[in-house]
Amino acid sequence: MSKRILLGITGSIAAYKALDIARLLRQDGHDVQIVATRNALRFFPRLNAEIFTGHPVYVDLFDSSGSVRHVELASHSDLILIAPASADFLSKMALGLADDLLSAICLSTNSPILVAPAMEENMYFHPAVRENMKTLLSRGIREIPPETGPLASGKDGTGRLASPDAVKSAILSVIEHTQTWKGVRVLVSAGPTHEPIDPVRFIGNRSSGKMGYALAAACASRGAAVTLVSGPANLLPPPGVTFRSITSARELEMEMGKAFPSHDICFMTAAVADYRVKDPLAGKKKKDGKVWTLALVENPDILSSLSRMKTSQQYLVGFAAETVLDPKKLLEKLRKKGADMLLANDVSQPGIGFSSDTNELTMCLPDGQVISLGRHPKTVLAEKILDAVEKWGTLPNLVSDHEPSAHARRPPRG
Ligand code: CTP
Repeated sequence: MSKRILLGITGSIAAYKALDIARLLRQDGHDVQIVATRNALRFFPRLNAEIFTGHPVYVDLFDSSGSVRHVELASHSDLILIAPASADFLSKMALGLADDLLSAICLSTNSPILVAPAMEENMYFHPAVRENMKTLLSRGIREIPPETGPLASGKDGTGRLASPDAVKSAILSVIEHTQTWKGVRVLVSAGPTHEPIDPVRFIGNRSSGKMGYALAAACASRGAAVTLVSGPANLLPPPGVTFRSITSARELEMEMGKAFPSHDICFMTAAVADYRVKDPLAGKKKKDGKVWTLALVENPDILSSLSRMKTSQQYLVGFAAETVLDPKKLLEKLRKKGADMLLANDVSQPGIGFSSDTNELTMCLPDGQVISLGRHPKTVLAEKILDAVEKWGTLPNLVSDHEPSAHARRPPRG
């Protein structure tokens, strides 16, 4: 299917190769619009690029036509590919600078962005570039990694622009994903809940919400209609997602109960506080030098109540925060909660789980399978989870041109 692809070319010696990429994409029937940085113009023939694509190559943020060029180009593109992406441009993207047309487009778009870095090996592996790349990946930007071979300096190393075929297949996978979940309604809960003690204090947990937000973004980028119900999290809702904010477990229970019947798939990613204060105080508790004892009562188990409401057309995914991963106990939890899939992480391990950008997940299915999804950035894990749901779940409401694979059947419930 033909797409409008915005090809951003930045100041790397590999810029001339971008024209091969443009040609290949055109051959596949895509409309390619090139936007270049000023430095990129030194490395490729602008006129050839305009002839190949049938469009002017844009460089400047402002023109005399009165149009807001970056907003128009951002909203008219189905996908943005930056190839080659220089170290300088990656750093601008990570910082959110918008001092030229291409960087302003990257900030304005809701479409998927792919970057194909090209630079000398020392630059590619420099901690600053690694850090910027990590930031971009955590925002859902995809990397088409550079290849290893002769570099512009004459040395051999990692940093060559990915081949046009590698770029083409990365684009294809994004386009396919964009379509896969079209028509599917997804409900995601994310973040912690805060249980009030008095007007200024609460009981909470260390959940950042990153896993749930990454899932919501991944579902939206596959074309799903997503509702994200979030507890207090210091994150921006992904573009295009319907957002509901809650504070306590009981508010979450109410929102999820209302929304669940009109959704096909539900990810119960929220780290729900298991207990709330029995009688929260109306006014702030003052110090009085005495021991203060709080009576706590158990919160409702939202996942379990959703599983009781669930129809055979719905698919319910639960999460488990554990300090010891025992496959037998995880399968027990999956069955007890009535979910179709349980994703467990070991929150005792440093560097993964709560607050971290990285996680390590173990997937449990009702037929007794326990499969590791590995340790990855949460954005990458979100994609792996969706792939697993495609493989193990039934996806209702798929667009008519999608043929579910033979194994896309829900396993019998154990
Ligand atoms: N969950 C929920 N309602 C609760 C507690 C948890 O819906 N009151 C959901 C979480 O969103 C998650 C799953 O249940 O999807 C498992 O959460 P977890 O904290 O691992 O399990 P608990 O039920 O709290 O069990 P325990 O802490 O005793 O292991």
